[in-house]
Amino acid sequence: MNIMIMKNYKTLSKIAAQIVSERVRMKTHLVLGLATGSTPLGMYRELVSLSRKGIVDFRGVTTFNLDEYYPISKEDPHSYYKYMLTNFWGPAGIPPVNVNMPDSEAADTIQACRDYEQKIARAGGMDLIVLGIGRNGHIGFNEPNDYLTADTHLTRLTEETIAANSRFFARPEDVPRMAITMGIGTIMKAREVLLLVAGSSKADIIKKTLTGGVRTEIPASLLQVHPQVTVLLEKAAARYLYPDKYAIPQNMEERDE
Ligand code: F6R
Repeated sequence: MNIMIMKNYKTLSKIAAQIVSERVRMKTHLVLGLATGSTPLGMYRELVSLSRKGIVDFRGVTTFNLDEYYPISKEDPHSYYKYMLTNFWGPAGIPPVNVNMPDSEAADTIQACRDYEQKIARAGGMDLIVLGIGRNGHIGFNEPNDYLTADTHLTRLTEETIAANSRFFARPEDVPRMAITMGIGTIMKAREVLLLVAGSSKADIIKKTLTGGVRTEIPASLLQVHPQVTVLLEKAAARYLYPDKYAIPQNMEERDE
């Protein structure tokens, strides 16, 4: 696991965008797994800017999003579909046929989840997946539990996640209770993982994720056994891991720009 401490959110976003665009330059038809939420917004802004400057070309890239609320109309301003269209796919010029999202309108969710897995497999699997982490340690919407589901599935969100998501909704009762998410196995099959962690509110969970054993009550801790993980940690999120910045181990970098 490669852990890098970033001076601030801007730097984290820039470095994340550099890593993603490097991979696209190395493989024009990259298959990219993507997260929504607050954390990757800065990275998406940077990627759009790099694409507008002609530094990276996303036209050959295929994307698979980690999760989507269920049920929700694609046209709903709260859907992750809209988020992606507005913040990344549209302005980065990714052809609509190349973008994929769990089907939030499906009547048969079991079939929709199977189809999603098959689509990922037919695309050759994900080369790189960009993840955020929930304050309870979820990745995608794989919530803490006694067991974790391997494949894409319909899941009930925890009260903690519903409360965290309520910041985007006018009324608490409007916050979706369910979502379709890639499973832990789907995520672990990505050939490379980039985990973005920003803000002091994530300091506690990232310490629990990276230290101590692999455990299902902290789903992100499973990343400890993935062979190719980079964690970009904003300094504020690293404060319990490396309370004294001079204690940052030699093999870990503190990077600025
Ligand atoms: C969203 C997703 C979630 C978020 C996590 C952190 O697609 O998969 O796991 O990454 O809830 O969200 P933020 O970045 O808003 O703190």
